[in-house]
Parts: sequence; structure tokens; C-alpha cells
Amino acid sequence: MEKILTKFLTALQNILIKNDKDICEKILLEIEQLNSGCIRNFSASKSPTCTYLDGALNNIPKDLSPIDLLLKSISKKLVWHDASRGVPKYFKGGYAFAEIIGEQGLIASEGIRLGLFLQQPNVNYPLHAHEAEESYIIVSGEACWKIDDRMISVIPGSIIKHQSCQDHATFTEEESLFAIWIWTGEIKGRYWFADNSEDDCPLEY
Ligand SMILES: [Fe+2]
Repeated sequence: MEKILTKFLTALQNILIKNDKDICEKILLEIEQLNSGCIRNFSASKSPTCTYLDGALNNIPKDLSPIDLLLKSISKKLVWHDASRGVPKYFKGGYAFAEIIGEQGLIASEGIRLGLFLQQPNVNYPLHAHEAEESYIIVSGEACWKIDDRMISVIPGSIIKHQSCQDHATFTEEESLFAIWIWTGEIKGRYWFADNSEDDCPLEY
């Protein structure tokens, strides 16, 4: 697994290095500081949204190679969680995430959380924000993304960046959306839905 993770981080660095956004520089610095020789040992598990995982993995275009083959391997070694942020009154859920780097990830880090994100078809992940800065690298599927008042269509290879506390939402239609998700900055900070910003909705594993 150590070799696969090292290859994955190198592939990620190669994608980010081509992107001149300032947040990518921060991610690259955090990746350089990781101890990828120290891999945690835990039992992998799946969650209901993983029904869409094989399809999402098979839809990664070859031009994102070697990310396609590396994610086929890595995604099987992770703990997947279906999530609604514990507030089904704001969001019924319909997505899953798994950490590669972070508190529950294969590699520990205090400065970065990085993992996989899978949103089911026909799901509206409503407008929300958090103190952490966030980036998504889309690897398969399609979605509409709202950032503040802007609507963006994303496809494989798109990189989306949210500043700290910036409102964003993700809408899928017929296809699921599969992405690499990255938090930097205040990774243990607040998270809230835009319509109920007084309620902190911490991530519960
Ligand atoms: Fe977010």
C-alpha cells in the first residue's frame, strides 16, 4: 500500500502543480510534509452510497491516468461513511466520503484532510460553508456547482476551490459525482448550512 499511496500523492502533485491557484500551493506544501512511510492499519468498510463506487471508478477517463488505477486500489482500503452532517432536517444525505489523509485516514496529518467523495445521482447537497478551505478534483461524473451566486458545470479534470466560509452547493442529475476532496487551513473548524448558519454541524464518523 505504501508504494501505491506514494504514486497517488505524486500523481496528485502533478495535477496540482499545473494549477496556479494559491490554495494548490498550500496543499502541495502539506503533501510534502506527510510521512507516507507510516501507513495506518485498519479494517476497510463500505457505506450504502458505495453501490455507485465501481461505476464511478470505471468512468474515470484514461487522460487522468494513473489516478484511475490508483483509486481502484486505494478506494478498497478505506473506511467509507454515508453522511448527512447529522442534520437530516437540512440535508437528507446521499453522499459518502472516505479519508486517505486525516484523523481516520491511512496517513495521519494535523494540517490537511484529503479523501474521496462520492455523491449519488439526483442529489442536491445544499448550500453550506465551513472554516476550512476546500478543493475538489473531479475524477468522474458530472455536476452543477454553486459558489456564492455563480453556477459552474464540472467534468472530470475540473478543479473547484472554496475559500474559507464561502457558500457552495453541489447538484447531481443522472450521473454520480466522484472526486478527490481536500481540506486545508481550519480543518477542525465550524461547518454550517447557509439557511441555518448558527448551527455548527461537525463531521461525525
Ligand atoms: Fe464543502
